[in-house]
Amino acid sequence: MTETLPHNRKTRRILITGASGGLGGALARHYARSDTETGVKLSLWGRDRARLEAVAHDCRTAGAQVSVRSLDLADVDGALAALAGEDAADPFDLVLLASGRGDVRASGDLVEDAAMVAALGTVNFTAPAAMAAAIAARMAERGSGGIVLVGSAAAFHALPFAAAYAGTKAGLARFADALRIGVARHGVSVTLVSPGFIDTAAGRKVPGPKPMLMAPGAVAARIAQAAETRRAHLVLPWPFAVLRWIDRLLPGPLRDRVLSSLTPPE
Ligand SMILES: NC(=O)c1ccc[n+]([C@@H]2O[C@H](COP(=O)([O-])OP(=O)(O)OC[C@H]3O[C@@H](n4cnc5c(N)ncnc54)[C@H](OP(=O)(O)O)[C@@H]3O)[C@@H](O)[C@H]2O)c1
Repeated sequence: MTETLPHNRKTRRILITGASGGLGGALARHYARSDTETGVKLSLWGRDRARLEAVAHDCRTAGAQVSVRSLDLADVDGALAALAGEDAADPFDLVLLASGRGDVRASGDLVEDAAMVAALGTVNFTAPAAMAAAIAARMAERGSGGIVLVGSAAAFHALPFAAAYAGTKAGLARFADALRIGVARHGVSVTLVSPGFIDTAAGRKVPGPKPMLMAPGAVAARIAQAAETRRAHLVLPWPFAVLRWIDRLLPGPLRDRVLSSLTPPE
């Protein structure tokens, strides 16, 4: 029998980071529309206040109680203080860390810009990992809760034109796996999501072909289902899981040749 997160007894309280973005906004709208019986209390984080308010408006129209917070995750200490404050005031049942930024080496450059590598390290790894650790400890004390970390299928491959993006998402994946094992016995679930291409502002910025491009709403529904069933790892669409195994099984020199032939898409 599948174990699910307990949520039918009370109004759930859910934090979503990256809620001003394509996937985070779709997650917010999904929960606002689906948790109608008990209602849902959403805390929506992002930087762009206008886009946050637009998402909040849609969620309120669907019946959700919504608060918004405009905050730059480069300020990790500020994010941790805000998280602790919100959770102490009204504990979260589910935390979805969906913020993130992409980067691709500029055409003609040997490596990615160093400042961008540092910035991606903070926004894609340090901030979500620190927030996940902080909320996991609080949830473990309560004996229940769910955490979702949004990684990327890029983590499966040593992409020479996006080393920082692939590297930060690979680090986040390993962190999520370890955290999941560590907190499972305390009633806390940790779900890692590794999507392929999603039709969002960030997704559209990636140059070149985007095979099996997914609608953000469809991805949000799959993520919600994975969180509900306390799934460890969701890879979508499934062919990206096959590519992951091919990458693992190819002999090293052949894998390197294939990856080094990849140039930054124009
Ligand atoms: N789109 C894809 O093809 C794809 C594929 C695989 C994985 N992903 C992952 O999915 C997640 C959502 O991406 P998306 O496609 O929805 O991108 P998006 O539309 O660009 O949204 C990104 C979100 O992250 C927030 N964010 C970025 N930097 C931030 C910072 N320094 N402080 C606070 N918030 C920050 C943005 O806030 P503001 O806009 O308000 O600045 C926005 O809400 C990311 O983790 C991304 O890596 C996306």
